[in-house]
Amino acid sequence: MIQIKTIEEYHLAYQKSKNNPNEFWEEIASEFVWKSKWTQVMEYDFLKGHSVWFKDAQLNITENCIDRHLAHNGTKIAIVWEPNNPSESGISLTYNELSLKVNQAAAILKKNGVKKGDRVCLYMGMIPELSIAMLACARIGAIHSVIFGGFSAQSIADRLIDAQASVIITCDGAFRGDKVIPLKSVVDDALNTYQLIDKVIVVARTHTPVSMIKGRDIWWKDELQELEKEGILFVEPEPMDAEDPLFILYTSGSTGKPKGVVHSSAGYMVWAHYTFVNVFQYESQYKHFCTADIGWITGHSYIVYGPLSAGATTVIFEGVPTWPDAGRLWDVVDKYQIDILYTAPTAIRTLMGAGLSFFSDKNLNSLKILGSVGEPINEEAWHWLDTHIGKGRCPIVDTWWQTETGGILISNLAGVTPSKPSFATIPLPGIFPILLDENGHEITEANITGHLYIKQSWPGIIRTTYNNHHRCVEAYFSTHKGYYFTGDGSFRDENGNYRITGRVDDVLNVSGHRIGTAELENAINSHAGVIESAVVAFPHAIKGQGIYAFVVVEDSQFTQEHSPLDIVATVSRLIGPIAKPDKIQIVKALPKTRSGKIMRRILRKIAEGELDSIGDTSTLLDPKVVEEIIQNVV
Ligand code: WT7
Repeated sequence: MIQIKTIEEYHLAYQKSKNNPNEFWEEIASEFVWKSKWTQVMEYDFLKGHSVWFKDAQLNITENCIDRHLAHNGTKIAIVWEPNNPSESGISLTYNELSLKVNQAAAILKKNGVKKGDRVCLYMGMIPELSIAMLACARIGAIHSVIFGGFSAQSIADRLIDAQASVIITCDGAFRGDKVIPLKSVVDDALNTYQLIDKVIVVARTHTPVSMIKGRDIWWKDELQELEKEGILFVEPEPMDAEDPLFILYTSGSTGKPKGVVHSSAGYMVWAHYTFVNVFQYESQYKHFCTADIGWITGHSYIVYGPLSAGATTVIFEGVPTWPDAGRLWDVVDKYQIDILYTAPTAIRTLMGAGLSFFSDKNLNSLKILGSVGEPINEEAWHWLDTHIGKGRCPIVDTWWQTETGGILISNLAGVTPSKPSFATIPLPGIFPILLDENGHEITEANITGHLYIKQSWPGIIRTTYNNHHRCVEAYFSTHKGYYFTGDGSFRDENGNYRITGRVDDVLNVSGHRIGTAELENAINSHAGVIESAVVAFPHAIKGQGIYAFVVVEDSQFTQEHSPLDIVATVSRLIGPIAKPDKIQIVKALPKTRSGKIMRRILRKIAEGELDSIGDTSTLLDPKVVEEIIQNVV
């Protein structure tokens, strides 16, 4: 485990990653188990959106996340699972037990015809079998595509079609707070649209009644029983080329349908590991609790691959922070004596609002490091976390990164480099950020905001968007040639600390979930009677951003009373409950320029309630439109 332990070491590492990147990464990569070594550390060409790390090397990530720990740490707990309902008992799996389960799951996949390179879709709740299924795919070289449980059947179908998946693993249902989400039934609806699935493997969790189609749908536990009869305990890990895809994860951008972000086998592993051990200053006895859902990149990198690659004990929590009450997260911290807690501003703000009584009787003294991710953390939430949860003695890391970056790019290193409330602070070694203005000129002055780009490749960078490399180049490598575009704005202070100010493209960040406005508008426009719509964000005390939709409808079809709720229902059906607008305003027309472009800037100001700074509307096709909208804000 190569760890930076002092600020001097950070500066040395950063300089080395700049001046001698080959040697720098070679040393880090040498700690892993490889089947054969690389011939070249890195090669990249941002004009083509092309990155290759550890060329010609072969490996299997599961040997690094599991097998290599067995000799000395086989009896160490790898996964602690805490169920949704506190009255149900949890499960712990040692590395030995995890190994057996992953091998069995790999055997199940093989038996059902899954081969290297095949795409396997996982639509499951937060149960150990989800991690096991991911690792089982990785073991046999299948590419997993995890879909978050808050997405609709239509969203699943879109992802299945794009990835041409052959197998789905799902659950009968998932518990979330007081709700049961009927996952298998949602999958069944998706499969009405996409029919190229060979097998649906179902894990029983909620005992929700499910329809099982003969020949296609099978129970995970029946498959396990068969294997146990046959006595299969081991599946040879598939040798993977460094650049073979490990997984696809769909994420929203400013245009069209979600993109399948593809991550590699070797570079992703090295990056998830390096960032995990350094940012959180992981020590071998630490219990690590990341509250994200495995359906997002945070869960992939910091519940599954990062911690397991380091031989850590990682917690999977099935529930939500507020059920049965707002003390649930603190219960989990207390129960397992958690050392590292990695969570999201939206969760912190929710728990902050619930008051102090929810943790006054909980023992949080085990906590050593606190982390935040997903959206800017406001100073109030930062200080609350510091004072009430960290008791002033736990460093807080504000980690900035994206689905496309594979792991953390800008963050302080816990207790090693200084924190600054509401700043992600400084880049990790190997990360060279640059701020550009609208015209692509570099901003070198301090205390100015610009658009955040990255100058050079790093091991965890997105390799392509599945089946459409052109889209990858367009989205990330074309805004200003030669740079990776993050889509974020950032302020930089005189000490080089970055404060991420939020997306500068048409992407919303609602409770840390990324939602593309184009995708959302498409869904709204599919609703009967809708002519057109424009979606913008407004500041939301808990969610960070809320969704405000301005919708133009055909007169005869709508009444203000019930139509907005019907539109919400359509969004929920087409994208999923996570994309539901918070506010819908039916308007006569949208503000447009004479050339027909919707003036989102004006709508944003209206949604933000900043009516004084709307600015000049005289260039609009019809300035009266704005007055009408302002009079009827919701
Ligand atoms: C977007 C990426 C990275 C895992 C979770 C979200 C925003 C992320 C921070 C932070 C301010 C942040 C950015 C980024 N974001 N972390 N620490 N401070 N903003 O992954 O869904 O790919 O979203 O989340 O806007 O671009 P994602």
